[in-house]
Amino acid sequence: MKNILIIGATGQIGSELTMTLRGIYGNDHVVCGYIPSAAPKGILLESGPAEICDVTDPEAIAAVVKKHNIDSIFNLAALLSVVAEGKPKLAWKIGIDGLWNVLEVARENGCAVFTPSSIGSFGPGTPPVKTPQDTVQRPRTIYGVSKVTTELLSDYYFIKYGVDTRSVRFPGLISYVTPPGGGTTDYAVDIYYSAVKGEKFICPIPQGVYMDMMYMPDALHACVQLMEADPAKLIHRNGFNIAAMSFEPGEIFAAIKAEKPDFEMEYQVDELKKSIATSWPDSLDDSCARAEWGWKPEYDLQKMTKHMLQKLSEKLL
Ligand code: SER
Repeated sequence: MKNILIIGATGQIGSELTMTLRGIYGNDHVVCGYIPSAAPKGILLESGPAEICDVTDPEAIAAVVKKHNIDSIFNLAALLSVVAEGKPKLAWKIGIDGLWNVLEVARENGCAVFTPSSIGSFGPGTPPVKTPQDTVQRPRTIYGVSKVTTELLSDYYFIKYGVDTRSVRFPGLISYVTPPGGGTTDYAVDIYYSAVKGEKFICPIPQGVYMDMMYMPDALHACVQLMEADPAKLIHRNGFNIAAMSFEPGEIFAAIKAEKPDFEMEYQVDELKKSIATSWPDSLDDSCARAEWGWKPEYDLQKMTKHMLQKLSEKLL
């Protein structure tokens, strides 16, 4: 990766990935691609190039790629699972028509492409515990349908046109920097905000519902490590299972309470989130990612909790 375009660079992953990649490849070599309603501010805007780059506008993507001599695209534009259920057509337009635009520009300009998939690409027919890399997917959400299509279309462009597409299936991502917007796993971020603010947390996910989660530094590391991996060693491409921790609400609550004994939580289950969460796996088997490109997470629930509480306290208090 020499010249990189991040589409959706002001979102939950993009805002941190842009800064991480600028640190590795140089500020001028990483373009922050954004839409006007989510324009970059502060360090994101000031530290390097920024361009309007709407994933639904193929000419705009092509123009930015040519202007900055881009060789690698991180396509992070997406609606998360809960929001997408309310706007399925827009979810398709961004997730699939948008992906098509990116892959076509990549094919014409020789770019590598990373487009995340997710635990949301699985469904109720998937083996839920230690979900294998290659297994039944059949998701029930439009988010999942778009993620399975993303995996297949990305593989297709690699097989048919030789476009260097690679991706991971992200779990719920937890960070103190940019909040997620409208995902099923967002509760595992919101709970830390409540804890630091000294508020009781109202949990929308039922007790006992496990989902895979990951601290953002590990997710960022996965992006870089996979895109830098030796292609000769990649048996899979789109998308690799990666895992770091799996917990249910009672367990993250207990981890926080160990640090903040006064913290309280009450369940008020959200039926849409419940139906999505229970259709996703409890935990993924990430052995292919470990074997093919050396994936290894650093943070477990306890280590993440200490770091999150410290960083959020610095931010909010
Ligand atoms: N975090 C996403 C969501 O909850 C899943 O990948 O929608």
